[in-house]
Amino acid sequence: MPVRSCKVVKRSGENGDAFFYVRSLRQEDVPQFMELRRELGIHDVGSCLQTWLTVDPQGVKVMETDSGELVGACGFLRNTDDLAFLGFYCIRSKFQGYGLGMDVYKDAVEHAGNANGALNAVPGKLELYRDKGGFPIVETEFKCVKNYTTDPVDPRNLSSVVPKGVSIEAVQDYHLPAMFDYDYSLVGFERKLALALNCQEKNSRTFVAMKNGACVGFGTIKTTCLGAGRVGPLYADDPAVAEVLLKMLVISLPNVKGLVMNTVSNNITAKKFLKKLGVPVKEELTRMYTKKKIDVDTKKVFALFDLNLTPF
Ligand SMILES: CC(C)(COP(=O)(O)OP(=O)(O)OC[C@H]1O[C@@H](n2cnc3c(N)ncnc32)[C@H](O)[C@@H]1OP(=O)(O)O)[C@@H](O)C(=O)NCCC(=O)NCCS
Repeated sequence: MPVRSCKVVKRSGENGDAFFYVRSLRQEDVPQFMELRRELGIHDVGSCLQTWLTVDPQGVKVMETDSGELVGACGFLRNTDDLAFLGFYCIRSKFQGYGLGMDVYKDAVEHAGNANGALNAVPGKLELYRDKGGFPIVETEFKCVKNYTTDPVDPRNLSSVVPKGVSIEAVQDYHLPAMFDYDYSLVGFERKLALALNCQEKNSRTFVAMKNGACVGFGTIKTTCLGAGRVGPLYADDPAVAEVLLKMLVISLPNVKGLVMNTVSNNITAKKFLKKLGVPVKEELTRMYTKKKIDVDTKKVFALFDLNLTPF
């Protein structure tokens, strides 16, 4: 058995013993990891994962075979010392049912330590997390909604009317302090590093809404591993500002195959925007926590940052 600096899992079968290795995902593994996600048909964004891996370099655990083939993963990424987000939990179908998922899950849970944990459960997995996985607290106010289309969308269906006194600007370094303040006042914990890197990601665009020197909203669009544009985060105090931000984001990234936007079910205006763009609902996910709910004004959350990395 080769010596590696990681946990070794042994499985015995008809063809003898097989060994699997659990370790932290490295920045350079992200392209291979995105292939696995693409295989599962999931619109993840590699650059967004790289951003959050910079925040917590040990935050995503992967399992691989002797030959370095990725078998699966589980992230439990510390957003702060007190808050971690569980995501990317998957095992390639031919390896499922051998206890490998549980092995990588345990390592991720160990990494999160005492932090409050949050996740978005796909349909059918609520009971698993609630009854066996250590996530007894189930959000009842909203669901997290995956919306996407592979068809082109027409941004002309959205309004361009910016409310008086508000200007919408392509992000520059000098916007960052105002953006950090806005984000903190919305989500209640600090994400300075993730936000700064979010604004620099390749194949992405970010716009900021400013009023009297303060940030009143911002939004980003990025390219997914399946080639679509994904809007998120998209936050604003005023839905009229969110609508113009969304329009500008869609226009700013034209060479993509469709649109992805993950929303919160009780933000009715976000639902209306998606109707105007013709983007259907694909799936509803259940938000769950290990210790306590995180209370955020979801009327201001028009698109979630990332379903696998951070709560809002
Ligand atoms: C969910 C998934 C990762 C589980 O991987 P797996 O290797 O097949 O699971 P295991 O073989 O380790 O499961 C062994 C046992 O542990 C349980 N288990 C698995 N993951 C668990 C978890 N996170 N918490 C508690 N129990 C868990 C299983 O239910 C099973 O219990 P059983 O023997 O009573 O049936 C895998 O089925 C998968 O990739 N599914 C598709 C992607 C998906 O739905 N991911 C969840 C997104 S929210």
